[in-house]
Amino acid sequence: RSRLVVAVDGTSGSGKSSTCRGVADRLGLRYLDTGAQFRAMTWWLLHEGIDVHDPAAVAARCEEPDIASGTDPLEPTIHVDGTDVGLAIRSDEVNAAVSPVSAVPEVRRRLLALQRATIGDGGIVVEGRDIGSVVWPQAELKVYLTADPAARAQRRAAETGSIDISGTQDSLLARDQIDSGRATAPLTMADGAVHLDTTPYTLEEVVARLVALAEAVE
Ligand code: C5P
Repeated sequence: RSRLVVAVDGTSGSGKSSTCRGVADRLGLRYLDTGAQFRAMTWWLLHEGIDVHDPAAVAARCEEPDIASGTDPLEPTIHVDGTDVGLAIRSDEVNAAVSPVSAVPEVRRRLLALQRATIGDGGIVVEGRDIGSVVWPQAELKVYLTADPAARAQRRAAETGSIDISGTQDSLLARDQIDSGRATAPLTMADGAVHLDTTPYTLEEVVARLVALAEAVE
């Protein structure tokens, strides 16, 4: 089995998840959605009634939930203490709270350990914000995906069934700003990453491009 690690970072709604799942499926690799782990942590904190805008309160409790990711690219799963939270982590409440929670260093340290353990000896496509820069800088292939804000809002709204495109765009841009501006592991293009602006391309085209890049490094 291939030990390849493909690290895919980029802004919210750039098409990372669909792209990464397609690439993993085509190459017979596992898939890890680290954004889902930050969302799961956020969901649990909200569920516990913890003030997500109080970094000390978040840091004090973030070791508690058991977060487990299933890595099948055709059916990725996320559980918190055994509960399937795949749908719950996509709520507006979680969207609004996930970036502040993700800026807390203790949260990042906890999930970093989980992410590295899951990557293990490779054979995986990993998506997030800091995979190529912090989680797995030694990845054989690093990709940085971006897209125009309007295109990203259209895609995200289509995914979630929302008709509020401008509200969706505001929420994406607000998350980008916090994710890029935070002190610990900000969203940034990693050294050696291939930058791809997906705006003019279909999902199939982007997947094909990444598969070709991956085959070239193997
Ligand atoms: O990828 P997704 O949009 O689901 O990620 C949700 C949020 O999780 C991001 O906006 C970011 O705040 C956080 N995140 C992160 N580092 C990662 C992945 C996600 O900080 N590696």
